[in-house]
Amino acid sequence: MMKKLILAAGVLAALASCGNRPSSAPTETPEAKAARMEWFSRAKLGIFIHWGIYSRGDWSESWSFHNGVVSMEDYFAQEADFTAANYDPAAWVQLIRESGAKYTVITSKHHDGFALWDTKAGDVSAVKSSAAARDVLTPFVQEVRRQGGLKLGLYYSLIDWPREDYPNVFRAGPARYDIDKEPERWQHFLSFNSAQLRELSEAYNPDLYWFDGDWEFSSEQWDAPGIVRMLREYNPQVVINSRIAGNGDYDTPELGVPVVRPQSPWWETCMTINDSWGFRKKDTDYKSPDTVLRMLVDCMSLGGNLLLDIGPRADGTIPQEQIDMLRELGRWTSKHAEAVYPSRAGIPAGHVQAYTTLNQAGDILYLYFPYAPNESIEIKGLKSRIKKVRVVGTDEQLPWKLYNDIDWSAAPGVCYISVPSRVLDPRMTVLAVEMESPVTLYEGAGQVISFNE
Ligand code: GLC
Repeated sequence: MMKKLILAAGVLAALASCGNRPSSAPTETPEAKAARMEWFSRAKLGIFIHWGIYSRGDWSESWSFHNGVVSMEDYFAQEADFTAANYDPAAWVQLIRESGAKYTVITSKHHDGFALWDTKAGDVSAVKSSAAARDVLTPFVQEVRRQGGLKLGLYYSLIDWPREDYPNVFRAGPARYDIDKEPERWQHFLSFNSAQLRELSEAYNPDLYWFDGDWEFSSEQWDAPGIVRMLREYNPQVVINSRIAGNGDYDTPELGVPVVRPQSPWWETCMTINDSWGFRKKDTDYKSPDTVLRMLVDCMSLGGNLLLDIGPRADGTIPQEQIDMLRELGRWTSKHAEAVYPSRAGIPAGHVQAYTTLNQAGDILYLYFPYAPNESIEIKGLKSRIKKVRVVGTDEQLPWKLYNDIDWSAAPGVCYISVPSRVLDPRMTVLAVEMESPVTLYEGAGQVISFNE
């Protein structure tokens, strides 16, 4: 049952201090930021988890009542079905690790305010009043820490539509109140958010905060710099996504792989596994492993990460299609590990009909083929000399041939690598093109013969 908010005045006064501080720019050198972001830039794949009372599967997370698809009462009646009866956090974490992901982000609280941990920040909708009647976040975090190999991210919605001190509730219709006219009521809400974030930092010390919902207010109104500063007091190394009104560390494009490289050197595309964030009974429109792999490699080739979402059911079971997807990703990422984690953005499109990345030293060009080449693949404009071509994840080396490597032309010869069908991966073949020196490219429009004698 959803309860109305009542916070004792004393608690509020104690909490208010963190919401009201003046903002100031963080003093961090670019080198220090690069060091802090290092694990993120090497992670490539993360697994997002949307889990809450909406996981019964009838209506979408939070948006369903906000958009008037279901009444707030019916929406919160789902607490009675959030049983977590078959929840196995060890198996969840094991599966996520098996996919090859290096981080995971779980919804600690979505826009509906339902908290997965036993929050003491106010009399609000939280897991203890659901059928599960127990904190389900702590065992997940404990497993992440116990099994190792994964960074922990917590999704936290700044928006909390059901609360009496939050101005907006329904998309259509008037707001509850105007924050300029009732600044104390708004401060009350900000203090509540701060109190929850303090709880999360104290209990779990996450490596990453994944904010959402910043679009409803400005940075100043949220006191976003104050929130970031507070989180950094708990963990100076914490990584924060962009949805905190411009105060985060990396860009977070949603549901579409960018066509050009995003401006930030650090970014991540978040992506649903079917068409929904949370589990939906009717949503069987699963992406294929080929599709998801292409999205992953596309992100990698542009220097970013893929944060792939799963939606467990309210009883804690993960749908088989989602399990299968993570396992298939795991098969591919473990076979091609050398071309995944240490890689960085590749070369511009146009040189080769494939996704590309480079190793850190820049002297290995990785080529990822979502299609089977008919006979050979072509690379043009490659000025550096090739030393060796390997099929990643196998012992195979491949022959290559350079055509028209002419001394009077600035355009280097065109390289053809023979790719026999026996070396192809069932989903995406990866070649490592090893160079004698870091890759340099010819980007010109070609040349006609000329002699200056
Ligand atoms: C959107 C939606 C939300 C979802 C999130 C994940 O901002 O509000 O429902 O959780 O994206 O990226």
